[in-house]
Amino acid sequence: MTPMTLHPDSLAVHAGRDDLASLGVHALPLDLSSTNPLPDVEVGGLSYEVLATGGLPLEGGSHVYARLWNPTVARFEEALARLEHAEEAVAFSSGMAAVTAVLLSLSHDRGLRHVVAVRPLYGGTDHLLASGLLGIETTFCTEAEVSASIRPDTALVVLETPANPTLDLVDIRAVVAAAGDVPVLVDNTFATPVLQRPLDLGAAISLHSATKYLGGHGDVVGGVVACDAATAASLRRTRAITGAILHPLAAYLLHRGLATLPLRVRAQQEGARVVAEWLATRDEVRAVHFPGFAECDPRGLVGTQQSGPGAMIAIQLAGGYEAASALTSAVRLFTHAVSLGSVDSLIQHPAALTHRPVDAAAKPSAALVRLSIGLENPGDLIADLAQAFAAVTAAAASVDVAMDAEERVLQA
Ligand SMILES: Cc1ncc(COP(=O)(O)O)c(C=O)c1O
Repeated sequence: MTPMTLHPDSLAVHAGRDDLASLGVHALPLDLSSTNPLPDVEVGGLSYEVLATGGLPLEGGSHVYARLWNPTVARFEEALARLEHAEEAVAFSSGMAAVTAVLLSLSHDRGLRHVVAVRPLYGGTDHLLASGLLGIETTFCTEAEVSASIRPDTALVVLETPANPTLDLVDIRAVVAAAGDVPVLVDNTFATPVLQRPLDLGAAISLHSATKYLGGHGDVVGGVVACDAATAASLRRTRAITGAILHPLAAYLLHRGLATLPLRVRAQQEGARVVAEWLATRDEVRAVHFPGFAECDPRGLVGTQQSGPGAMIAIQLAGGYEAASALTSAVRLFTHAVSLGSVDSLIQHPAALTHRPVDAAAKPSAALVRLSIGLENPGDLIADLAQAFAAVTAAAASVDVAMDAEERVLQA
């Protein structure tokens, strides 16, 4: 076992790889087996029983079937658990599969059917909670309303910080205190364990869309939950029953991605600060949401709760929806696409896309655009945004000229 005293940067490189030398290999082994040989019916049956009910593989037993357990996935889980200071982690086929499994497990195990959710949240999470699809009732609230929203049948409090898409910061310790005995889930997708470890702050669960920074290269969909051993066992049981396990190839890529996670996050956040400061000087931009700006973090949570601002920015365009929509089409180096946390920069319009299913009252502004800053040189990203703003302004001016001409023709 890698010593606990390792710096997180070293842990990111070494966690989940302790036995590689003894296996005589240097790279992570990838086991793609969908089924596994059974020594005999007795041991096979017992192995099945243990894994299907959320246990870990029996000594001398079989892994039975890849929906129950897979060694490549387990390696990634071990590494992520170490980075999050958790006892265990459980990996899923997507971030939404992870959210679903937590909701199902916690409400089922405790016989409680109510959840408190601090908005804003990722549109998919908001949609799942609002839909009632899982038979769970949700009270949406602000951070200040958590205590008043808790009921005797509340199974879980859900929050994101920084939140998608507005980068709002939530005080994790304050919500944990307000929640009392009710476990708190923090969606740590935007911060990653490089910047924030929710379990150290009293949260019971840290959840990721691994699709984002953990993978970091835009080529994996996955989710992972870091928590205590009892919750992990319940999540593995739910995962086995519902069939939501992460694919081993995705686990391999995610585990490989962890090694560069600290470097990527720090470099991306440096670039984001440069881009955010430039955006704040532009007349086309009415407001910049970036946790590194004092006005976006009045309680000073960056530096106490999370060690840096992260690499996500949201901007409100002075020209409203038209300008926001035109900007996403005018960029050339940024890719106009949903998702985030990749090595390349992305731009998207949350109200139209990631947050489309959210209730009108809680939907982000139509003037808001979200930027995920990648590893490009920030000067190139600024040059791209500058040419995009110029193109949007020129297009708006030519529309004005055309409308004036049409008006003159109509009047003539
Ligand atoms: C904060 C957050 N949580 C959860 C999810 C859902 O993850 P996935 O798309 O991997 O299902 C997303 C996706 O964008 C997200 O941004």
